[in-house]
Amino acid sequence: MIVLSGLTKEFPGGGSGIGGKEQGKVTALDRLDLEIGDGEFFALLGPSGCGKTTLLRSIAGLETPTAGTVRIGDVDVTRLPPGKRDVAMVFQDYALFPHMDVTANIAYPLKIKKVPQREARAAEVAARLSLSELLTRRPGQLSGGQQQRVALARAIATRPKAFLFDEPLSNLDARLRLEARTFLKRLQRELAVTTIFVTHDQSEALALADRIAVMDAGRIAQIGTPAEVFQRPATTFVASFIGSTPMNLIPGEIAGSVLRAAGATLPAEGVPDGPITYGLRPEYADLSRVEREDAFGGTVAVVENLGTAHLVTLAVGDPYEGTFVQAVVPEGEEPALGETAWAVPRPGRALLYRDDLLVTTTTMSGAARTSSGRA
Ligand SMILES: Nc1ncnc2c1ncn2[C@@H]1O[C@H](COP(=O)(O)OP(=O)(O)OP(=O)(O)O)[C@@H](O)[C@H]1O
Ligand SMILES: [Mg+2]
Repeated sequence: MIVLSGLTKEFPGGGSGIGGKEQGKVTALDRLDLEIGDGEFFALLGPSGCGKTTLLRSIAGLETPTAGTVRIGDVDVTRLPPGKRDVAMVFQDYALFPHMDVTANIAYPLKIKKVPQREARAAEVAARLSLSELLTRRPGQLSGGQQQRVALARAIATRPKAFLFDEPLSNLDARLRLEARTFLKRLQRELAVTTIFVTHDQSEALALADRIAVMDAGRIAQIGTPAEVFQRPATTFVASFIGSTPMNLIPGEIAGSVLRAAGATLPAEGVPDGPITYGLRPEYADLSRVEREDAFGGTVAVVENLGTAHLVTLAVGDPYEGTFVQAVVPEGEEPALGETAWAVPRPGRALLYRDDLLVTTTTMSGAARTSSGRA
């Protein structure tokens, strides 16, 4: 188990960081608490500058926290040097030894530990990452994606207590990236090594992880299984970050169990009156060519080809100028530009946010419900 308690990291400087800054300091991690179970595949997801790399480096021992503790297993490792922590980190910029060939790079940590038959073990891992043809080349003779796979192989070959992966697939092309991620998931299951995987690609996090933490400015905005984070984003920040198309977040108003937003009138039983943000994934909106009260009407402004479907953007007209609603439409059913259409929410799929936080209710029809009806 890896346990972080009140982990805080401030860098001197300030200025341009996204993390909160006071008196010339950048707060990269802000009193962060996190527990990662043994053998868990844990994804850290968040926008650039939110503190993902700093968090991994703090676990690896490459950053000294300003406050808080890091525990790995039963040991408080906060003051231990990296070499004593038995974790393997793969960096965003992979850091290979330029004067060593691929085999020597992969085998290097094994050599330090005096592991026998290390070249054979290096070759075996290399083969699983499709590097067999490249074993005698040096990093300078490899593409970025190939270097990244060598760095991955080096970490995997050491069989550590934990893997810390910082965007290990970012330089791979789309197909190789899919292959590598399937390989990583299978390997992680086989070895059952606790893995923390940093990415800013939400689809990668959803595909790989047992649990995901979504980070925002040095803090954790939400932790949950991929299904929980996808189906019930706790804040509008998480809602807009997760999903292959951005969630519609439409400003509206509730009065007497009726929600009005951008021209649509929808039921909202059990939600107190007041302003509200109506959240609906484009995948959960169907397009109607016939006018409906419980739908968002507008003019087709953009149609984007998603391959097996189209993402349609409706511009809602007067008096909601500037409001756009998106719907995913099956191939062959996409409307023409300039056509008038209505985006119809699927029952039970909408999420309501007030002050950027998810509103939970048990009695709503046509809008948010708690996941199991227990609450
Ligand atoms: N050595 C440093 N000195 C000063 N500020 C730093 C340092 N390292 C990181 N920061 C700042 O800390 C914050 C978090 O940085 P970090 O590298 O952890 O972000 P990240 O989530 O990994 O981003 P990315 O997705 O771009 O890699 C940023 O505001 C960054 O500018
Ligand atoms: Mg980073």
